[in-house]
Amino acid sequence: MKFGFFDDERREYVINTPETPWPWINYLGNEDFFSLVSNTAGGYSFYKDAKFRRLTRYRYNNVPMDNGGRYFYINEGGTVWSPGWKPVKTPLDNYECRHGLSYTKITGEKDGLEAEVLLFVPLKSWCEVQKMKLTNKSGQKRSFKLFSFQEWCLWNAEDDQNNLQRNLNTGEVEIDGSTLYHKTEYKERRNHYAFYHVNEPVQGFDTDRESFVGLYNEFSGPRAVLEGKPGNSVAHGWSPIASHYFEIELEPGETKEMVFLLGYIENPEDEKWEAKNVINKKPAKAAISRFDSVEKVNAAFDDLRKYWDNLLDGFVLDSGDEKLDRMVNIWNQYQCMVTFNMSRSASFFEVGIGRGMGFRDSNQDLIGFVHQIPERAKERIIDIASTQFEDGGAYHQYQPLTKRGNDAIGGNFNDDPLWLILSTAEYIKETGDYGILDEMVPFDNDMSVAKSHFEHLKLSFYHVVNNLGPHGLPLIGRADWNDCLNLNCFSNNPNESFQTTENKSGGTAESIMIAGLFVVYGKEYSKLCRQIGKSEEANDADKHVDSMVEAIKKHGWDGEWYLRAYDFYGKKVGGNENEEGKIFIESQGWCSMAEVGKEEGMVEKALDSVKEKLDSKYGIVLNNPAFTKYVIEYGEISTYPAGYKENAGIFCHNNPWIMIGETNIGRGERAWEYYKKICPAYLEDISDLHRTEPYVYAQMVAGKDAAKPGEAKNSWLTGTAAWNYYAITRYILGIRPDYDGLVVDPCIPAYWKGFSVKRRLRGTTFNIKVQNTNAVSKGVARMTVDGKEIKGNVVSVFDGKEHDVQVEMG
Ligand code: GLC
Ligand code: GLC
Repeated sequence: MKFGFFDDERREYVINTPETPWPWINYLGNEDFFSLVSNTAGGYSFYKDAKFRRLTRYRYNNVPMDNGGRYFYINEGGTVWSPGWKPVKTPLDNYECRHGLSYTKITGEKDGLEAEVLLFVPLKSWCEVQKMKLTNKSGQKRSFKLFSFQEWCLWNAEDDQNNLQRNLNTGEVEIDGSTLYHKTEYKERRNHYAFYHVNEPVQGFDTDRESFVGLYNEFSGPRAVLEGKPGNSVAHGWSPIASHYFEIELEPGETKEMVFLLGYIENPEDEKWEAKNVINKKPAKAAISRFDSVEKVNAAFDDLRKYWDNLLDGFVLDSGDEKLDRMVNIWNQYQCMVTFNMSRSASFFEVGIGRGMGFRDSNQDLIGFVHQIPERAKERIIDIASTQFEDGGAYHQYQPLTKRGNDAIGGNFNDDPLWLILSTAEYIKETGDYGILDEMVPFDNDMSVAKSHFEHLKLSFYHVVNNLGPHGLPLIGRADWNDCLNLNCFSNNPNESFQTTENKSGGTAESIMIAGLFVVYGKEYSKLCRQIGKSEEANDADKHVDSMVEAIKKHGWDGEWYLRAYDFYGKKVGGNENEEGKIFIESQGWCSMAEVGKEEGMVEKALDSVKEKLDSKYGIVLNNPAFTKYVIEYGEISTYPAGYKENAGIFCHNNPWIMIGETNIGRGERAWEYYKKICPAYLEDISDLHRTEPYVYAQMVAGKDAAKPGEAKNSWLTGTAAWNYYAITRYILGIRPDYDGLVVDPCIPAYWKGFSVKRRLRGTTFNIKVQNTNAVSKGVARMTVDGKEIKGNVVSVFDGKEHDVQVEMG
């Protein structure tokens, strides 16, 4: 069952019922100011950091679902409704939500009165525009009351929920005509405030929640709205809000547009006040003046569209399959940009206070957007590397506002450092900018101990070499990519977190997933060394990589597939001798990407085992058989019910590793089959089962052992976005930047006739046409550039012009 449709022309997903199987959300903002918005206008806004600078309040996992947002209320002669259906939930005659790229347009119609709200964050601004367009489509004159509504969050979102004994006293506002200011804590250590403005004189307002909503009313029926009368309240403590009030009349056919603006301001310490206890509003007025008319707002909206035209123009696919095209050309790239901005901090599953920017997550996310915003990708790499430790280890996360690492969600994940090699290599391949390697980058943000970025990569590589276990395989530390395989944490205390306890530290548990990862990025490191003339360094690295390959073949092979790990006691994890969890996906993915034992047939065997034991209707599960009992020496993994999350869920992030592995041995059809199974556009028809947005990937889909296989959770903020984009574009379509040029090496189903791709790389545009008249899966028989045949399958003319590239497979 579907709840809307794709409008590819406008790059929108159009939702035509407010009662989606889960709130279907979108993100506004591209740089500093961000908002989450659901299809019924729920959500919240923040400046840079969803924890420390949250502007508006949101209640997660509430009853009813999705409570709080930018709400508008219309009261016409006692009929009360909201354009986004919620919170009032009066049935609408028409409802539509269009989620586009960094904007959302919600339209509701009741008895011939239409209200359309366009929401977006203009480029280079710190505000959310809410353009309201009211149209009288009926034959009669209409007269009604309009209320806006936002509830302020007292900045620190965690404190806001917890520290009520303080918070209910601190709230402060100022009112200046149509601008309602929120200035809690501005008097003391804060230099920032927020405002909610409208570009018309108001006929009333409210800034105190109780006056507006009523103590025992709900958002669905606020006192002021029901009575049709604002309270003109001034908040002192309790819960400050912002609500504007208008009495409006519209002749038949008449339209009225207004611009509401939610903004954030920072003042220099010595310019905080314009009079005693009166905030300096000059910068707010300047910000408002940029968007105080419909014309200015429309122009800003055009700029936003152009911004996306340009971002998406770097990779354009024409495959003849509209679902594939819309994912590759629009939604998958869009989701990658959202993960760039959010990492794992704020979604409708991530509450914005727990997780900042992950070291491993952010490095991996980068491979999905580096072609769109290479300069910002470079800045991101340096930010991440700046939190690294001098021994090559890493904080697991850093806070976006301060850019400082912290161990709030644990540390000592021994896969972390290696992902820095991935992101850096992809950045250089994209841009040709080796200069990044010479940048001086601090450790733990301490510039006095800075070293070149190249040294950071070297330390990342040697962090593995210096931390090997009894089988010569990498020590796992707290965990590797799988946060829940906590082999050095024996927890029988439900009050402690698996993420921060490590009571068997010093343990010798080893990870074959990290071993495979090390072979892949160790080879990459060595290749990079050769590129910059460090051949001795490369030779040394090769030796370590070779011994790792040997160690995997000797101690990491179980006969039909790669083992997953050795536990604290030196026992096998993920082997046939195990009762449950006999096989895991991660080591199959990484060891097949690393091609460990390819000549001996290991890669093919392992991938066949994946097909046989892990594949299912809705994707490849993480492990099997699922754990049905708690295994104390394995940690969090076996705490999950069978079929969910890391315990045999379809953890979509790792499916593309298998796809890439399949392309390594030329099995295009199998790779494609795996791709389609988890790709959201192909799941649109089963949205009632899938539940999350059909335009973005979810982290997890319930696996074959779950109660409801196919049901997804945790959409948006997942490495799945970057990895699937990487798998489809670089390995299945095979358009892959390398140090010395653009490689064309498709691995597709033999029945595909071909496809075309426009790829921008280093300022040059390649119009690539791949033809598969010989019906093969892999192999390039012939390639011409501007009509001239070339040797091999790498184009390397970077002259800033356009080139025609013809590729014949065979
Ligand atoms: C979550 C984490 C990621 C981890 C994965 C598997 O997605 O963000 O870092 O690798 O879970 O446990
Ligand atoms: C839990 C989740 C995992 C996530 C981690 C983040 O372990 O299962 O997916 O990465 O928490 O801390």
